[in-house]
Amino acid sequence: MMANSIKIDSGVYWVGAIDWDIRDYHGYKLDGTTYNCYLVFGNDKVALIDNVYPGFSSQLLGRISDAFKKEDRDLKIDVVIQNHIEMDHIHSLYEIIEKFPDVEVYSSTRAVSGIKNLFPKLKDFEIKTVKTGDSIDLGGKSLTFVEASMLHWPDSMFSFLNEDGILFSNDAFGQHICLSERFDHEISNDMLMRASKKFFANLITPSSQVLVRKLDEVDKLGVLDKIKMIAPAHGQIWTKPEDIVNAYKDWATGVCKDKITFIYDTMHHSTQKMAHAMIEGVFSEGFEVKTFYLHPDERSDLVTDVLDSKAICVGSPTMMNNPFPSLGDIIFYFNCLSFSRTGSNKKAVVFGSKGWGGGAVKKLSNDLKQAGFEIFEEYDVLNIPHEEELNRCYEIGKKLAQSLK
Ligand code: FEO
Repeated sequence: MMANSIKIDSGVYWVGAIDWDIRDYHGYKLDGTTYNCYLVFGNDKVALIDNVYPGFSSQLLGRISDAFKKEDRDLKIDVVIQNHIEMDHIHSLYEIIEKFPDVEVYSSTRAVSGIKNLFPKLKDFEIKTVKTGDSIDLGGKSLTFVEASMLHWPDSMFSFLNEDGILFSNDAFGQHICLSERFDHEISNDMLMRASKKFFANLITPSSQVLVRKLDEVDKLGVLDKIKMIAPAHGQIWTKPEDIVNAYKDWATGVCKDKITFIYDTMHHSTQKMAHAMIEGVFSEGFEVKTFYLHPDERSDLVTDVLDSKAICVGSPTMMNNPFPSLGDIIFYFNCLSFSRTGSNKKAVVFGSKGWGGGAVKKLSNDLKQAGFEIFEEYDVLNIPHEEELNRCYEIGKKLAQSLK
């Protein structure tokens, strides 16, 4: 199909795909995204960095043709850099190799078995492997590689375009944003940072310690100061890279706001009343509150607010000696993400109403401890919270906020 490329620097083009329609990506709720790929025109060779999700090859190929026309060069890709092998960045690899049979493919060592597994027809195709510090020369432009294992997959790596100071970071520093604009400064900063935080919370949180070490390593290689632009594999391109690098440093090291996130479900409004009373107590200490009532709200937004909260308050009625099933999804996800890896030591209040013997609060409390939260208080009430019990909820909220100052 015909599609436009976008020049992001001299001889460097965005040639990715825009997925306007995707609403769920392995459980992450989103309103579309982009699969960013880039073409780098050296004097001798042209490199394609990453490719696209199934169904988007024709967009990619259309934009590649457009970029070659703009550069007035014969259509020929010499090098493919495969920074990551998740399907949204590799699906078109075989088509590219078929179209440009002499192309050289570069990846991290750990990517090779995955590529062969994904594309059995490439069984005998040579994948050239690179490690941190290795470079390739395109003629007047050169790429240096930095392995980024577990940021966020074992195969992940970054590529750095030395002459232009562009870091191709694949998923890291990305956002699931779907707009016609391509650059950070073209959209509202609030939207950009919220989307970046959501991406970090859902995808990068478990790699927080790896990220801190990697930023240090990149700094020691002398690359950090030279980065003029970060071109991730999703969302906007960062022309002010310090904005997102500093935000990542904060998120990965547990820097939080005076903020408490409430997560609750309710059966006959009792647990809900307890939550509202606690929120008043938290407000009285000047803390920001974010609430997630679990029926309409969704886990990928919820964890975005947990990321920079000092504490959470989790409420559930007891049903058959257990928490409401809606809480199970969240607790399971907390275990996956492991916020304690950011070193933020988040506290948790667990509360709820019970009809008979209870059980939800104790069970949730044990589960949250296992997920790395420090339990500040447990409180369950029989049937309906009356004036005295709601006052205690207010005091719990207030004491929690005071303990976090
Ligand atoms: Fe955007 Fe790990 O894939």
